[in-house]
Amino acid sequence: MSKEANESPLPTVQWPRYGVDAPAVPAVLAAAGVACGLAAAGRRRPGRIALAAAGTVLLANAGVYLHTTLRGKLRIWERELDRAGLQGSERLLDLGCGRGVVLIAAARRLPTGRAVGADRWTRDQSGNSPDVTLANAAAAGVTDRVEVHTADMTALPFPDGSFDVVTSALAIHNIQSPEGRYRALDEAMRVLRPGGQLLIADPWPMARKYAGHLGQGTLRPLGPGYWYGGPWLGITLLHAVKER
Ligand SMILES: C[S@@+](CC[C@H](N)C(=O)[O-])C[C@H]1O[C@@H](n2cnc3c(N)ncnc32)[C@H](O)[C@@H]1O
Repeated sequence: MSKEANESPLPTVQWPRYGVDAPAVPAVLAAAGVACGLAAAGRRRPGRIALAAAGTVLLANAGVYLHTTLRGKLRIWERELDRAGLQGSERLLDLGCGRGVVLIAAARRLPTGRAVGADRWTRDQSGNSPDVTLANAAAAGVTDRVEVHTADMTALPFPDGSFDVVTSALAIHNIQSPEGRYRALDEAMRVLRPGGQLLIADPWPMARKYAGHLGQGTLRPLGPGYWYGGPWLGITLLHAVKER
């Protein structure tokens, strides 16, 4: 849906707000941390120390998670898009674009190109909707080069070879079955032009399987800024170039 085609007035925002990924997760971590702290207060040693330690760890996990979703991933995608060496005229597709963190960072680098987002608007991110993404694009001043489509990654409504770059951040792993995830990867490759770049960020065990499925690509951990709670849920980037 392009902005022109969207008839409902967009929410007005001063600056983009990208929401929280899987918001139930940090909420549960924080609630469990507080519960452990409260339980510790009513106990004697040694149970008290163990509960206080567990509460501290859980709260720290919630803090790291929130940092990643609110700040860390934004900075990392700015860096990765710079590394991709965009010329400024590319057509880029962001799969599972959500509220547009990657889509808008890409659009800023595409003054004469196009940043196209596709999403099914599931509950994997707080408040995601086409209107919110377009309002974020407007707040970032890139409305003229952004489009948002309601589409399933496993059956993309785009012709073969129609994009120079395909990105996806924390989205493909949301597809329940391995077959569905592999279908999304095949679709990403189908819509990519020969020589085009694929950049997928997902938890490392999945990213490794994606590379195995595609039979190509390099894997690079994106570091503590992209930890959803701790290193056990660190995000890895798969970078592949479609054969010419
Ligand atoms: C955790 S959010 C990440 C959003 C965004 N890429 C980011 O990094 O902020 C995952 C997104 O994937 C979308 N999604 C999940 N399954 C999808 C599917 N099969 N097709 C398209 N989008 C999907 C969800 O609606 C959600 O917006």
